[in-house]
Amino acid sequence: MSRRTVLTGITTTGTPHLGNYVGAIKPAIEASQSSEVDSYYFLADYHALVKCHDPQVVQQSTLEIAATWLALGLDIDRATFYRQSDIPEISELTWLLTCHTAKGLMNRAHAYKGAVQANVDAGEDPDFALTMGLFSYPILMAADILMFGATEVPVGRDQVQHLEMARDIAQRFNHHFGELFVLPKAVVDDNVAVLPGQDGRKMSKSYNNTIPMWLPEKKLRKSIMRIVTNSLEPGEPKETKDSALFAIFAAFAGEQQREEMKAAFAQGIAWGEAKQKTFELVNSELAPARERYQELIGEPAKIEEILQAGAAKARLYATPFIGRIRHAIGIRSLS
Ligand code: TRP
Repeated sequence: MSRRTVLTGITTTGTPHLGNYVGAIKPAIEASQSSEVDSYYFLADYHALVKCHDPQVVQQSTLEIAATWLALGLDIDRATFYRQSDIPEISELTWLLTCHTAKGLMNRAHAYKGAVQANVDAGEDPDFALTMGLFSYPILMAADILMFGATEVPVGRDQVQHLEMARDIAQRFNHHFGELFVLPKAVVDDNVAVLPGQDGRKMSKSYNNTIPMWLPEKKLRKSIMRIVTNSLEPGEPKETKDSALFAIFAAFAGEQQREEMKAAFAQGIAWGEAKQKTFELVNSELAPARERYQELIGEPAKIEEILQAGAAKARLYATPFIGRIRHAIGIRSLS
């Protein structure tokens, strides 16, 4: 059997929050500790440009996300850890793929269609404020994945369509130019919780309901205290279903802790006490890495050095591979 190659990218817009941690970062770090796979982790800063036009935010977020992965113990000797924009082969591949991707395929992308629909609903021109970056985004993502022969890409449900597009793009290219690309598969883990935010909707920067991962202890507590609950009094039995607080607790809890909290809800635990327990649980998981995170954030030059080393490692693969692709499509030396 051929080797498994797992690849994950994180868009560098914004400060990592508990939803990112539970949904993506934690499972990816655990997976990286397996020696059966080659793993690639990268900071998708080109993807960030699609949504974010503030240079300071792009840079700061890249630093914070890199420090987060490192603080949590990503094994950079085993995994390949890099910043997308340090691999010029990715941009090059993006153009080569763009020239072989049907526009009709991109027209069907949910993110693009959603943005058009929002414009239409608002009575605007359908293309109002839409960039080519948003439209072509799935091709950049295909290049990220195909560049390193990824066999598996762990993603949330919202990204499954992008993986299907990457397969389509790869298949079409292979059909014309020979078997150059490995067809990647989306891996969606239904056990990985989609974490609710403070207001009960999905935790997301766009809803402004996030709990940032690296708040200092006191602020983390405050932020958890702000999770919405209902008006049931202490002593009144409470439902765990549809409780954002319970969901957040459960995402950090072991089996037994989860059962105990369930029982406490049924017995009418006070909301304040349930929040305090949630804070203690979340804090105990993050506190050890928080110190390492603070140290790393204070040493951006060290992180830069790690990223440069990661890029060099990634390019050992990417440079010869893009050479083969260039040759296959006719970008060749004349002599
Ligand atoms: N688009 C992904 C997201 O928004 C991030 C991403 C970019 C990615 N390139 C990727 C994920 C390649 C997996 C593989 O979450």
